[in-house]
Amino acid sequence: MITVNTIDELLKATSTFKGSVGFVPTMGALHEGHLSLIRQARKENDSVVVSIFVNPTQFLEGEDLDAYPRKEEADAKICELAGVDILFMPTAQMMYEKDELSIIAPAIRGFILEGTKRPGHFDGMLQIVMKLLNLIAYNKPSAFRAYFGKKDAQQLALITQMVKNYFINVQIVPCDIVRDKDGLALSSRNLYLSKEERVRALSLSRSLKRATELVMQKEFDTSTIITEMKKVLTEVEVEYVVLVNREFKPIEQVELGNTIILVAAKVGTTRLIDNLWI
Ligand code: PAF
Repeated sequence: MITVNTIDELLKATSTFKGSVGFVPTMGALHEGHLSLIRQARKENDSVVVSIFVNPTQFLEGEDLDAYPRKEEADAKICELAGVDILFMPTAQMMYEKDELSIIAPAIRGFILEGTKRPGHFDGMLQIVMKLLNLIAYNKPSAFRAYFGKKDAQQLALITQMVKNYFINVQIVPCDIVRDKDGLALSSRNLYLSKEERVRALSLSRSLKRATELVMQKEFDTSTIITEMKKVLTEVEVEYVVLVNREFKPIEQVELGNTIILVAAKVGTTRLIDNLWI
């Protein structure tokens, strides 16, 4: 594995690639969820690039940019063991100039749910993903795939739309949520949870399990499902429970094969999200 810190080094390293390239963008503090994306990228491509960059433009004022977990040494070891070819770790100065053009997330997908709670977050996220995709595509690999987790469902929907709207030559590969044995969806933010909060956090995945049971009993009415889910979400501060279609439009009835059930809640001071694709 080569670790590169500058854009020149990255472009030089990717210029030697032959065949397909799989790319996994991350903000570091890698866990089993990231590893599953890397493993899939490794399986499906000739070369694999991982980026670690805690992108300042997707953090809002007062959010935890400085407190965001940074574990560069451990992350590099994980990447090496997982067979990554290039680890790209740029600085903010390298990725941004002053007074840049911005990308604005569209209203429907960008300003509901996570967008309401974190206005501007998706603009910054799209901006960095566009930059990273363009950098990896620069040397024109024969095929280019980028891997994103379904856990950040709204992020995934927006990236898919950006790639389509801006004709970016990359295949976006959605990857399944990875969970701990007890059901908690893996997230770098889980590191912030105390033992007691971690137990309370399990109600998110439990509420999604309850929704699955209801759908299996042919209960398709979304308001009934939401009410039942909220009964499970008693020990957390619920921000939203919602059912949308794959285009992120709210729905009244579950459409099998085209529904995502999303939940966001605060456990102590930690904000967690989880979802289920049915
Ligand atoms: O999901 C993340 O970790 C980030 O939003 C991403 C896609 C790496 C962009 O900074």
